[in-house]
Amino acid sequence: MTRYEIKGGNLLEGTVTISGAKNAAVAILPAALLVKGKCRVENVPDISDVRILLDILADLGAKIHHEASGVVVLDCTNISEKKPNPELVRKMRASYYLMGALLSRFHKADVALPGGCNFASRPIDQHIKGFMALGADVEETEDYVVLTEGPNGLHGNRISLDVVSVGATVNIMLAATLLPGQTVIENAAKEPHIVDLANFLNTMGAHISGAGTDTVKIRGVESLQGGTYAIIPDQIEAGTYLAAVAATGGNVLVRNVIPKHMDCITSKLQEMGAKFINYDDAIRVQSDGKLRHTTVKTRPYPGFPTDMQAQICVCMTLAQGISRLTESVYETRFFGYCSELTSMGADILINGKTAIVTGHEKLKGATVRAHDLRAGAALVIAGLAAEGTTQVENIHFVERGYERLVEKLRALGADIRRIED
Ligand code: EPU
Repeated sequence: MTRYEIKGGNLLEGTVTISGAKNAAVAILPAALLVKGKCRVENVPDISDVRILLDILADLGAKIHHEASGVVVLDCTNISEKKPNPELVRKMRASYYLMGALLSRFHKADVALPGGCNFASRPIDQHIKGFMALGADVEETEDYVVLTEGPNGLHGNRISLDVVSVGATVNIMLAATLLPGQTVIENAAKEPHIVDLANFLNTMGAHISGAGTDTVKIRGVESLQGGTYAIIPDQIEAGTYLAAVAATGGNVLVRNVIPKHMDCITSKLQEMGAKFINYDDAIRVQSDGKLRHTTVKTRPYPGFPTDMQAQICVCMTLAQGISRLTESVYETRFFGYCSELTSMGADILINGKTAIVTGHEKLKGATVRAHDLRAGAALVIAGLAAEGTTQVENIHFVERGYERLVEKLRALGADIRRIED
């Protein structure tokens, strides 16, 4: 089993450079299916979710060229209408974006249901509602979603989402881009990667406005042409390093970030005692490792991200006093890591949607298992801050979303090794 072995207690010091955003990349790469011409995409993170997605696109006939580190050129001009490889589709969550992209390009799609991190029930009813509003007939089986053009053809429409969903917002944007007429998504998600997808599509010739607000408008165009685009930095990867420094203590310059995207995270870590200096595209974080309790409630952007819940929970386990952490996006997300943290000495009581975390001065090393991506990242932070040695198992989850994690942490002075048995 491949695992991380971490000897805790080192301060983190130096500079770390953040990679391109996973959740933007996994929306933008399928969006290349809409483009006839070459899309040159920069700042593509080298993570397993991206590798799987590129394999799916290559299998559909996309020509893919790795021009340089982080630079991928995709040409989907001559892709075929075949079904995306179901085995690959089931390996990740964001493969559901193939539904919207293929519907837009071919007016039909036959895509296996996605896999990926399974920390909660993750329905796609809002995606389906969107496709139907755009005129698709939808057939859902246990394993597949089959979309075809309905009797009145595919066309723009007004769709009000019942819940704020990143995935549904992206999928409807993809589907509507090449359809006639105007689509309006109300109660849309406002995450930075929604704006990034809109910017990518607009660079290629789409007409999308309002991304980043709760009303996104897409005026359909006949075709998109190629171009060059750079993916934004990963808000959650950056947040993970900030939380790691807050927990272990140290002084790190986190480069290639958009500080505005980080406000919702830094404001909470600041309340806990970490100090931040913002630059144009970097943030310096300083911490003496002595943290105070706080209260956090996860919310869609611009709120505190659910994808940082587990990492800030580790900070809370080390903070003086009792913290409260409420999850409002995925209720069951605590179960992916809280019991693992408890085995490291953390004191966490889960009461419905809220974890009540009583801080202690130290965690102690243990053998723990990652159950999903962010849970795994949190266990790495716990290991870095703990006394003694921590083994984090199931690290394939972590490698879905963090590029060169071990290398980056070692450069900051962490004692972490990737061990393949
Ligand atoms: N929801 C529905 N119906 C739907 C879609 C969503 O009820 O059709 C509910 C979900 O159950 C959840 C809420 O709406 O309670 C929000 O879900 P959303 O659709 O926004 O999540 P997602 O698109 O499946 C993306 C990220 C997740 C991140 C969430 C929330 C990608 C590929 N994934 O998931 O990222 O947690 O948004 O911000 O963008 C991660 O990176 O570790 C990760 C899990």
